[in-house]
Amino acid sequence: MDSILVRGGAELNGVIPIAGAKNACLALMPATLLSDEPLTLTNAPRLSDIKTMTQLLQSLGAEVTSLQDGKVLAMSSHDLSNLTADYDIVRKMRASFLVLGPMLARAGRAVVSLPGGCAIGARPVDLHLKAMEALGATLELRDGYVYAEAKGGLKGAVFDFPLVSVGATENALMAATLAKGTTELRNAAREPEIVDLARCLRKMGARIEGEGTSTITIEGVDRLTGTTHPVVTDRIELGTYMLAPAICGGEVEFLGGRIDLVGAFCEKLDAAGISVSETERGLKVKRKNGRVNAVDVITAPFPGFPTDLQAQMMALLCTAEGVSVLEERIFENRFMHAPELIRMGAKIDVHGGQATVTGVEKLRGARVMATDLRASVSLILAALAAEGETVVSRVYHLDRGYERVEEKLGACGASIERVSS
Ligand code: UD1
Repeated sequence: MDSILVRGGAELNGVIPIAGAKNACLALMPATLLSDEPLTLTNAPRLSDIKTMTQLLQSLGAEVTSLQDGKVLAMSSHDLSNLTADYDIVRKMRASFLVLGPMLARAGRAVVSLPGGCAIGARPVDLHLKAMEALGATLELRDGYVYAEAKGGLKGAVFDFPLVSVGATENALMAATLAKGTTELRNAAREPEIVDLARCLRKMGARIEGEGTSTITIEGVDRLTGTTHPVVTDRIELGTYMLAPAICGGEVEFLGGRIDLVGAFCEKLDAAGISVSETERGLKVKRKNGRVNAVDVITAPFPGFPTDLQAQMMALLCTAEGVSVLEERIFENRFMHAPELIRMGAKIDVHGGQATVTGVEKLRGARVMATDLRASVSLILAALAAEGETVVSRVYHLDRGYERVEEKLGACGASIERVSS
């Protein structure tokens, strides 16, 4: 199992290109199941999660070809030869559940394994299932699988999500494109990844309005066509790397960065004493002066502060001047990075969904362990500014969501290398 070795203390200067969004790509790929014509995604990120989705789609009978070193995914689902998403693939990645809506909509039937437990809380799929039922599907849960059927096809409906869910909105949106009649999704998620999915579906012939607001209206059509679509910039990769010069000092430009993708995050950076400016190619980040200030953060659905940047923000606040309170409102049990940061000398108290971080002057290198995707990168950020060496083990979590992390940070002057065991 690989580890990442970081020798902290270097200022970072240079340019980091930001990849296409993992979470957008994972929702766009199952859209291929909606049409018998080819769907091509450009600006795809090169990540193990994308390989997992590729395997899943292939197991269902889709052809998925990775071109240009993985940056282009050419997909075609002429025939769906298998309508069962197997446990062995679904258990690896929760986003696998996104094949349910498209399969049901196109084939009128689908069998999808329940995703099972997850390190950052229970993460049920009840909202996905309720949305499918609202669209006329009958569901049965048996042997760890969801057996779904829509005899005579799905039917448009009004569905009001009891809480905002990105994945359930995506599943329902895809399913509704081929349903008979009009669907109105209320209290829908507004994340940029949903907007990207809706835009791609519209290019495929879907009739969708209101993406990016909390009500999305979909007029069902008989069939969808193929298209080519560029995956939107990864706002979480962007926000993560924006924290690197904030933590280490220096100035870094982020190619493809857009303020509208990271608005709430930039407000907190500003309050912490980090300057973000727009350039022709993206965004530039540097510290305004001296030490970072403490700030309080509450995670919320978009356009709020993203839960997927909470761990990385905590890494920054560990060395801020003063006391910061981070409140996690999306997932329970999402402070698993805190004990690891404490091993590096951070002062953090976790009480339920709140973490109080008292800034220290310096962190010290240590052996730490990645527990999930965003936690693992928060340890790397902390290590970049820590005194001495840090070894982050279990980096397979990192490879799920960050392509070539050591190359991207190394090019800006960080001392970071991958160590294969
Ligand atoms: C997506 C992102 C993930 C991000 C999360 C929140 C992908 C592949 N993953 O995950 O990186 O952290 O959005 O921004 O896009 N919930 C239910 N029942 C459901 C579904 C969700 O109770 O059926 C709850 C969850 O447990 C959680 C909250 O709703 O507390 C939000 O989850 P959701 O937005 O669905 O997250 P994902 O789509 O799984």
